[in-house]
Amino acid sequence: MADRLPFLYLGADTRPGVRVDEFIRDLPKAELHLHIEGTLEPELMFEIAHRNRVPLRFGSVEEVRRAYRFSNLQDFLDIYYEGAKVLLHERDFHDLTRAYLERAHADGVRHAEIFFDPQTHTGRGVPFETVITGIHRALEEAERDLRMSSRLILCFLRHLSAEAAMTTLDQALPFREWIAGVGLDSSEVGHPPSRFRAVFDRARAAGFLAVAHAGEEGPPAYIWEALDQLKALRIDHGVRCLEDPKLVERLVAHHVPLTVCPLSNVKLRVFRTMEEHNLGRLLERGLCVSVNSDDPAYFGGYIAENYRAARDALRLTRDQLLCLARNSFLGSFLSPMEKRGHLEDIDLFVAGPAPEV
Ligand code: ADE
Ligand code: ZN
Repeated sequence: MADRLPFLYLGADTRPGVRVDEFIRDLPKAELHLHIEGTLEPELMFEIAHRNRVPLRFGSVEEVRRAYRFSNLQDFLDIYYEGAKVLLHERDFHDLTRAYLERAHADGVRHAEIFFDPQTHTGRGVPFETVITGIHRALEEAERDLRMSSRLILCFLRHLSAEAAMTTLDQALPFREWIAGVGLDSSEVGHPPSRFRAVFDRARAAGFLAVAHAGEEGPPAYIWEALDQLKALRIDHGVRCLEDPKLVERLVAHHVPLTVCPLSNVKLRVFRTMEEHNLGRLLERGLCVSVNSDDPAYFGGYIAENYRAARDALRLTRDQLLCLARNSFLGSFLSPMEKRGHLEDIDLFVAGPAPEV
């Protein structure tokens, strides 16, 4: 695989930061950990609230942004579920998804695997069909207009019951062709993956691929459960795996991808500062880690900003950035041939001419 250093990309620079920013932005990448409800920017929240006549407790966009001060996952989730209440109609889910895809495209995302939380909406009386039809229409448009591919992953809310997850799976079955996999998200601590074993068994039998959030705030034991009981093919976050050397061995030996979200982890105080984030150590241990944005409207940046923040704080090398981008495709649910095409695009990008200084 070509791995030539583009002239001056990450070296000394008379305009510090600029060339690296362009390198990161243009680097072909996949996004594997993105909650569509977490892309609701305050401006769009106000626009949709206005057209749907949904009252908001905030008077302005600035006031909304000021409220985005979290000290843990639950603080964030409370406001995230509140924001999602403006979404009522198919058009709302379409517009939300379309806005994300355009933004991600500008950040060099070629392929996106997108989570949606149907229970956040069906619990308010919005039909499952309304949610998925709006999202799906935007995904089709992006394939056609932006040449961006995508997969959709239905997440069960783990703070709700396993029975509620089972009902949601029933609602999803008529849309089986539009959904690649199932995942598990929401409040982690006190809600172990093992509670959802039966629903994941059924989902896999119906042909869904399995992923799960684990080891974000919860202990390494939850990662073991996600692997052994849910048969998760990918772990979302998983950053606490380093506390358990046997677990790291297993993740490395089985090439289990970890979808890491640096800005999210710092905002939610999984790490106190970006300098303390363990992304560099995860890479050094040979884990298949990728960089993702989780809930970019809430955490202060889309995917390129996550790469930049991690790169600056952790002094990631050009080769580490390339490794993260390659891992994002390798860890995706694309076919081997599609993966090869994207890896070749990264090689072409690396070998390409240096831009004007
Ligand atoms: N839902 C949206 N973002 C999440 C996160 N970071 N962890 C768990 N559930 C989520
Ligand atoms: Zn997440």
